[in-house]
Amino acid sequence: MKTIQVRDKMFRVSIPETEIKQRVAELGAQISEELKGEKPIFIAILNGSFIFAADLIRCFEHECEVEFIKFSSYEGTDTTGDVKQLIGLNKDLTGRTIVIVEDIVDTGLTMKAMLEMMKEKNPKNIKIATLLMKPEKLQVALNIDYCGFRIPNDFILGYGLDYDGEARNLKEIYTLVK
Ligand code: IMP
Ligand code: MG
Repeated sequence: MKTIQVRDKMFRVSIPETEIKQRVAELGAQISEELKGEKPIFIAILNGSFIFAADLIRCFEHECEVEFIKFSSYEGTDTTGDVKQLIGLNKDLTGRTIVIVEDIVDTGLTMKAMLEMMKEKNPKNIKIATLLMKPEKLQVALNIDYCGFRIPNDFILGYGLDYDGEARNLKEIYTLVK
């Protein structure tokens, strides 16, 4: 199995390119079937989901729109936890079907914050599409509508996911070699 070094760590391929492509096509077909006639707005969470989003929306067979958002997290010295703020969504979502597109749901806290912010914008309904999730790490109850792969609790990178800013361009998904 192919092994690579990124910064100070070694990684090996855990999901090859062909498997990712096939699974993304399946998700695209499923979303196309379930959301036909809805003209959904895909909302991709930057940075990690940009490659998955680009591939997924090209597997969606009907009219749709695409938006990108980003979270900034501030670590306040006198507050507890992160304060997450949404950057870049000016679109009116009232009455629309939206599909949140994420690279990976880990603890689920990012997705929970995202859901709460989206609900305030009064969409008709909200679907969640994530390429990956780590069920063992999940801390909150989430109803994930479309999930590509359920993976063990190991650090991964590639296909949009980074290690310290690097390796997003890899075509496969790699797992940290411990
Ligand atoms: P959560 O809020 O804990 O669910 O974290 C979600 C975010 O953490 C994802 O959007 C990723 O950007 C990042 N993340 C979680 N696990 C990994 C990983 O294994 N590799 C790279 N990024 C990760
Ligand atoms: Mg992310």
